[in-house]
This record gives sequence, structure tokens and C-alpha cells, in this order.
Amino acid sequence: MSHDLFLAARDAMAKAHAPYSKFPVGAALRTAEGRVFSGANIEIASYPEGWCAETTMLGHYVMAGGGDIMEVAVVAERMARITPCGGCRQRLAEFGRPDTKLHLCDESGIVETTTLGAMLPLGFQGDVLK
Ligand code: THU
Repeated sequence: MSHDLFLAARDAMAKAHAPYSKFPVGAALRTAEGRVFSGANIEIASYPEGWCAETTMLGHYVMAGGGDIMEVAVVAERMARITPCGGCRQRLAEFGRPDTKLHLCDESGIVETTTLGAMLPLGFQGDVLK
């Protein structure tokens, strides 16, 4: 069942714009309604201004109206098992839940499944800002 989410992430990875790092990354999420949103990393010549696959994915998700995120898959072309960077852990934690599944993938499929909560223990909570 989750293999199709991996495939969506891998399809997204093929669209990565990563001419500087040459490190394509893809990410995909599924909502409770079964909607799937994906994204790839996009780099620009001013290096710090590029952004991650997870960020592109979340942009598509937000613009489409959001929803409860049930699972997320991430894959990188040149890594046996990618884990999201710190900033993306925070982004994912804000839109998902601690028990949202996170599938860490290689180019063939899911290698390990963890949760957003396990990826970001003691993460910053924005509740006080509301
Ligand atoms: N990258 C992602 O897309 N997601 C991550 O979680 C880790 C890093 C991208 C950013 C940059 O385009 C490339 O990988 C190398 O850092």
C-alpha cells in the first residue's frame, strides 16, 4: 500500500532541479482522504535560497487545501536511506502529527518506517504564537 507513495516520491525525484549538488531528492505525502502530493528539491545559484523536496511537497499540499497527513515518503538518488534535514523535520512536524508515518526509502522502495515524532523529539511548538 505504501509502496505507491514511494513511487510518487521517486517520480517527483526525477523532476528535481539540482544542478549544483547533483543530489536529487523526492518526497510524497498522503492525506486521510487519499490525496497524494509530491515535490522535489529546487536549487538556484545563490545556494542558500534553494529548497528541499519536502518543502515543495508541502507547498503543493497547502495550496490544494491541506488535510490530515497520514504518511510521508522521502527518497534520494544517491543515498541508501535518506532522512529529512532539520528544517524539514520542523516543517513536517507542523503539518503532520507525532504518529504520522515517515517512510525512509532507497531507489527500490521503503527501507525503514518511523514517525515524525521520532524524527523530531522535543521539537519547537508554535502554539504560543497563535
Ligand atoms: N535536500 C532535500 O531535498 N531534502 C532533505 O531533507 C535533505 C536535503 C536537498 C537540498 C539540496 O538541494 C540537496 O538535497 C543537497 O543538500
